[in-house]
Amino acid sequence: MADWNELGKVARKWTYEAAEQIKRALANPFKVEAKSGPDDLVTEVDKNTEAFFYQKIKETYPDHSFLGEEGTAEKIHSTDGIVWIIDPIDGTMNFVQQKIKFAISIGIFEDGVGKVGLVYDVMADEMFYAVQGQGAYVNQLELVAGKERPLNESIVGLNARWLAETNHPHANPLMALVRDSRSVRSYGSAAIEMAYVAADRLDAYVSVNLSPWDYAGASVLLEEMGYCTSSFSGKALSLLEGGTVIAAKQHYKEKLYLLM
Ligand code: IPD
Ligand code: CA
Ligand code: CA
Ligand code: CA
Repeated sequence: MADWNELGKVARKWTYEAAEQIKRALANPFKVEAKSGPDDLVTEVDKNTEAFFYQKIKETYPDHSFLGEEGTAEKIHSTDGIVWIIDPIDGTMNFVQQKIKFAISIGIFEDGVGKVGLVYDVMADEMFYAVQGQGAYVNQLELVAGKERPLNESIVGLNARWLAETNHPHANPLMALVRDSRSVRSYGSAAIEMAYVAADRLDAYVSVNLSPWDYAGASVLLEEMGYCTSSFSGKALSLLEGGTVIAAKQHYKEKLYLLM
C-alpha cells in the first residue's frame, strides 16, 4: 500500500524545487506563445516545469500514471492505479504579465480517489496541501472549517469574462450570483481560488469551463475540509474530462445548483 504521507512530502519537495526554477526563469526573458487565442498562453517555463515533474515521477514511481496540461505524457484514458494530475503553472497569464498569483497544482489519486492535494502559490510562498484523512494545511497552519455565511455576506470567486458572454447559457445565473453576493473576486488562477475556498478566504468559486489539472489538486483540499466540488448540475468532477465547476462550502450546494 502506498504511504500517502511520504508521497505528500515528496510532492511538496519537488514543488519547492520546481518553484525555485520558475522564480529563476522569471528573472530572464522567456518564450511565450498563444494557444487558442490571446487569452490562452503557454511559455517554455510551463513546459519545462511539467517535464521536470514527469521525469521525477517516471524515475521514482515508474508504475504511476501522469496527466499534465502541456501534454508531456500521452493522454490517459483511465484513472485506475495511482495517477498524478499536474498543472505546472496555473495562472499562466498572471505569470507572464503580473508575475504574481500563479500556482503549481498537484493531485495524486488512487483509483479515482483523491489522496494528496497541493496548490503552491509560488510568489506568496503559500503551500496549501492535504493528505486524505490527515487534515488540510496552509504552510504549517491547519485549516479549520469556515463560517457558513448567507449569500449576501459571501465573497464568490469567478471570472468576469463569462458575464460578458450574454449568449452563454449560464450568463444570467452568474449575473444573479454577482448581484446577490456580498462581492466577487477574480484572481486568475482557478487552483488558487479553489484553495482560497478551502482556506475560508472565499465562500465559493464557480467556473463554466475548467480542465482536470485546474481542479485536481484543490479538489483534494476541499474534500478534506468537507466542502463540495461538483459540476453545475451536481455531478462529481471528472478526472479525465473538464467542464463546469462549483467549489463551495456545503450549505451552498443546493443554492448554487438552483442558480445554474
Ligand atoms: C487557467 C486559470 C484561469 C481559468 C482558466 C484556466 P492556466 O489555467 O486557472 O484562472 O479561468 O480557465 O485555463 O491555463 O493558466 O493553467
Ligand atoms: Ca493553460
Ligand atoms: Ca490551469
Ligand atoms: Ca497551466
